[in-house]
Amino acid sequence: MLKNKDLLGMRDITPEEIHEILNTAELMKTVVTSNNKKTPHLQGKSILTVFYENSTRTRLSFELASKYMSGVAANMSASTSSVAKGETLIDTARTLDVMGTDVLVLRHPMTGAPHLMAKNVKASVINAGDGTNEHPTQALLDMFTMREKKGGLKGLRVAIVGDVRHSRVARSNIYGLTKMGASVVVAGPDTLLQPGLERLGIEVTDRVDDAVKGADVVMGLRIQLERQKKGLFPSVAEYHKYFGLTEERIAMAKKDALVMHPGPINRGLEISSAVADCPQSTIDEQVTNGVAVRMALLFMLTRRKPEAAGL
Ligand code: CP
Repeated sequence: MLKNKDLLGMRDITPEEIHEILNTAELMKTVVTSNNKKTPHLQGKSILTVFYENSTRTRLSFELASKYMSGVAANMSASTSSVAKGETLIDTARTLDVMGTDVLVLRHPMTGAPHLMAKNVKASVINAGDGTNEHPTQALLDMFTMREKKGGLKGLRVAIVGDVRHSRVARSNIYGLTKMGASVVVAGPDTLLQPGLERLGIEVTDRVDDAVKGADVVMGLRIQLERQKKGLFPSVAEYHKYFGLTEERIAMAKKDALVMHPGPINRGLEISSAVADCPQSTIDEQVTNGVAVRMALLFMLTRRKPEAAGL
């Protein structure tokens, strides 16, 4: 059972809640990978995905998760909605809330937008990525993948490599993994590592080789060209050489290390094609697991309501 109405960040949830989400997702994965993707868990429930930024994986996996569980799913894109006519986030949120919506899934370029929405609606709000702040459902699917492949999270050494400064995925994984007893090291060029990261209880280095050495998991981060001011690294070729996930670097990790990336990937920039497609890569499986984790969250959040009892 989740204690809050909303899922806004990994900073806000307990290790027990994380365990319960991952255990529920394990059951949901059997549905996603079966030939009969239909359950009654969201019967009579309405899920709206509200995206102010582009998305393939997150938006579609929430929509499929809703449909696999017999919920009603609809999407609002900012560019084709009344947001383009100047409607505020709060007015938009209230409008969507009074349509009988049970869960609003919001992606927004501003940090804190889901928190603001959550304060103004009765529906549960799920943060599907807010600016450079958090992307909790991505961290949960990443943790699900690590737990499934490695048998647990406690004691794992997880190297997170790349554009840490702009990465909500990194931040959510740092909060979640440290809560679950994993040790996290982040690595990238100094210009892509904000000051104060050590205060989160992690190691920080500008030497990717040092981070990757002996790691159980190596997670590459997308270079977020859309959020970068010019000049944070000299060139694509140099970035790839000094900070990219290459076959030589992955060979420094443990033999059975997982290679992860939240996607979308920039081949030849933060990760080589050979590494992205290598047998240790879990990139495709992370996407599958994303559907299962989002099914679990939608079920658990709607189950909080008394009228959903018995599902
Ligand atoms: N990983 C992730 O959030 O991907 P999308 O931007 O495609 O949703």
